[in-house]
Amino acid sequence: MNLRAVKGMNDILPEEIGRWHRLENTFRELVELYRYEEVRPPLVEPTALFVRQIGEVTDIVEKEMYSFDHHGEDLTLRPEGTAGVARAYVEHNIHTREPVSRWYYLGPMFRSEKPQKGRYRQFYQAGCEILGDPGPAIDAEMIDMLVKLMDKLGIKKVSACINSLGAAGTRARYREALVAHLTPLKAGLSEDSQRRLERSPLRILDSKDPRDAEVIAGAPSILDLLDEDDRAHFESLCRYLDRLRTPYVVEPRLVRGFDYYTRTLFELRAEGGELGSQNALGGGGRYDRMVHELGGPEVPAIGFALGLERILLAMPEKPNPRRKSVLLAPLGESATAEALAIAKSLRSYGIAADVDGRKASLKSMLRRANATGAAFCVIVGDTELARGIVQVKDLNAHSQEDLSRVDVARILADRIRSSHPPGGA
Ligand code: HAM
Repeated sequence: MNLRAVKGMNDILPEEIGRWHRLENTFRELVELYRYEEVRPPLVEPTALFVRQIGEVTDIVEKEMYSFDHHGEDLTLRPEGTAGVARAYVEHNIHTREPVSRWYYLGPMFRSEKPQKGRYRQFYQAGCEILGDPGPAIDAEMIDMLVKLMDKLGIKKVSACINSLGAAGTRARYREALVAHLTPLKAGLSEDSQRRLERSPLRILDSKDPRDAEVIAGAPSILDLLDEDDRAHFESLCRYLDRLRTPYVVEPRLVRGFDYYTRTLFELRAEGGELGSQNALGGGGRYDRMVHELGGPEVPAIGFALGLERILLAMPEKPNPRRKSVLLAPLGESATAEALAIAKSLRSYGIAADVDGRKASLKSMLRRANATGAAFCVIVGDTELARGIVQVKDLNAHSQEDLSRVDVARILADRIRSSHPPGGA
């Protein structure tokens, strides 16, 4: 039987993990500076949570969820993180403990979409949610943080698009205006958009079909329909972003595929590059009604999620990290025991080390030391051991010397540390 990974679900191999760690660590370090704390909700939630919060007539709920019946319970692999976070917030009565919560999460999400570059069925998100602050100051802070994060990751060609959806009333009025604009033009729309015209006309604005492009460009702007409070919220947001010198683009036709959004909406778009139509690196917005709809009090909220695979595609390559480990190459039986002891001692100094236990030729062990990026290869031979020494190959300097068996671990640890000061590259 030829068993392979499920279509659209990828193995992330150790050779790729360095970039993942760099991305995840940069994200964690930055958001913790803004006082976000990590939360880890389950990967599986009741199906009803997503149906109600994301919305019944959305692509995700209509066709992309991995849902199953487990002994009579309707469950779903989470297609996104926000609904689960809000559920946890309500379930644990977090609002009674603190007025504002800043939470972040990292982990896999599942959507049964047609796989292509930058679009997978299992993909990773890093997200932040703030519950308990109505904005707009923190809306600006959040967007500014995202721009900062892109800068830290070396992603230059990216723009932050912002829009406002207003409150529920505005959305209803906009929906009417949009339907009035689109109905006479229906025949020229793509089949998908024709179908959406009745059930979810706002989503037509998301269409990438060239047949829809012109009609969308002429569509009315939701910003013209905002009521006074929503307009003031949006204008303040722009003012705060200006004050923070955050570059942004007002995009009145920005809509996103969830029903839960209210007011502020934003998306990070990569310009050019290899992502093509999957150019949304991340996005988010306000969802001021969700906590209440889940049975909690009236708690406003805002958040975003980044698609980590897409960010990695947009991130520049970094040169290989510097070598800092040691490979022990024993030649013979008693040499192997000594090699194990030297490796143990190196690790006690905080230096990564491993022993080649294959009983392979010296040439093959040296080749492996080089391939694994070791800084030193320690050759432990029975004859040398009898004289109290081991041979050390410096794989950066391409030099070789004899060191005392007793001192070798300490000396190499010192050398590696001095070429890699703590906190250095
Ligand atoms: P979303 O726009 O659906 O928002 O997803 C956020 C990001 O996840 C997207 O911009 C994209 O980079 C990535 N992404 C989405 N689907 C896929 C896929 N199939 N393959 C690869 N990457 C993908 C949310 O999920 C909201 N929960 C964001 C949010 C948080 N809103 C408020 N709080």
